[in-house]
Amino acid sequence: MEETDRAGLLKAQFGAEFRWGVSTAAYQIEGAFDVEGKGLSIWDVFTSRRGKIKSRHHGQVACNFYNCFKGDIELIKQLHIPDFRFSVSWSRLMPSGQGPVNRSGLDYYSRVIDFCLENQINPWLTLYHWDLPYALEQKGGWTNRDIVGWFSDFTELCAKHFGDRVKHWMVMNEPAVFTGAGYFLGIHAPGRRGMGNFLPAIHHATLCMAEGGRVLREMLPQAEIGTTFSCSHVEPYSPSLKDQAAAKRADALLNRMFIEPVLGLGYPAADLPVLRKLEKYMKPGDEESMVFDFDFIGLQNYTREIVKSSFFTPYIGASLVKAEKRKVPLTTMGWEVYPEAIYNIIRKFDAYPQIKKIIITENGAAFSDQVENNEVHDNMRVQYLQDHISQVLRAKNDGCKVAGYFVWTLTDNFEWAEGYHPRFGLIHVDFETQKRIVKDSGKWYRDFLKEGL
Ligand code: BGC
Repeated sequence: MEETDRAGLLKAQFGAEFRWGVSTAAYQIEGAFDVEGKGLSIWDVFTSRRGKIKSRHHGQVACNFYNCFKGDIELIKQLHIPDFRFSVSWSRLMPSGQGPVNRSGLDYYSRVIDFCLENQINPWLTLYHWDLPYALEQKGGWTNRDIVGWFSDFTELCAKHFGDRVKHWMVMNEPAVFTGAGYFLGIHAPGRRGMGNFLPAIHHATLCMAEGGRVLREMLPQAEIGTTFSCSHVEPYSPSLKDQAAAKRADALLNRMFIEPVLGLGYPAADLPVLRKLEKYMKPGDEESMVFDFDFIGLQNYTREIVKSSFFTPYIGASLVKAEKRKVPLTTMGWEVYPEAIYNIIRKFDAYPQIKKIIITENGAAFSDQVENNEVHDNMRVQYLQDHISQVLRAKNDGCKVAGYFVWTLTDNFEWAEGYHPRFGLIHVDFETQKRIVKDSGKWYRDFLKEGL
């Protein structure tokens, strides 16, 4: 993008209906992991295992959002952010994942929702952002088909208690990541590995996504119902046929595996043959049960991936060429800064005629922020956000049905296997004192959103 385009970026260019928000997730911010009847989640257990998380960090306190939510929601208001996406912790609501309900958990989320509304902030609720109740993992977790029933009951509970006030729902956060990292690579909770875990987890997550959508639609016919997907623009390393074929397989794995069955297209097994093994877990009627007509699809994009053919990588025959090796600008996660990726991803998903509306439910970056005199001059993040938002506008101006943009994330928080090292927030957190400092990126977003108010 030209410098001038970025500098001229105005909220008005997106139209009055466009949604602007900020996203978070329960385990990454709440803390209070064992208070007032909360059961353990797989992340509570996984983080207690040696060697799993950098510096042995965990989410027991995190940003203490459980106790500080009022202050943080007031900050959202001060930044003029109208939409706030957060998730509920299943094990705070149902300590064993099924059966008895924890009244204090229901009251807590009610207070959060009410406080948003009192401050004219619209709550956008994600049902599942990776923190499965540990009691369910002991029964097989995502590999056990009974999860469809457990998930359906949990969805029903949330719809019943929060549906009078929450109008925007997302069933799931990034199923490709929690199944891939949690059940194939073992680098996220619950730390299981291999195809024997991955394949059933994929299929059951797909079924739950659609089932969650149906439960919400039936109980809350007026609600706007979506679900979110991780997606990275994929390009081949070279024009060779081998690399092109590898990129196609990686694209099927990273971008198509979960959306296509939901849209009624089935798993993309023709382009990623290992997915044929999913048949073992399919029952009659599943093809239909995997389909749900979501009101919107949430896309979460951070970067692009460059892929080359790799004979030695089992199942997929492809590997990623890291940004560091390519000597391109990168974030502290090691991800390439490549704003056009978000444009390409919107174009790609927009091409599915079944998708009615796209919301960017996450986009953001981790950089090594420094506090100087109570300020954080995170120029790289300001530029990252401006460049990405400009690319969203480009897609919108091309006629794509993109209707919203949410920054990841409000405050620095627990970044899963990386612990607290990568800082993604618009607001800096000192994890010793819980002091918040609005970074320059937060101030930039505030000024951008303030226009016309
Ligand atoms: C997840 C977030 C995560 C972010 C940055 C997304 O994959 O939904 O929970 O913190 O990316 O890694």
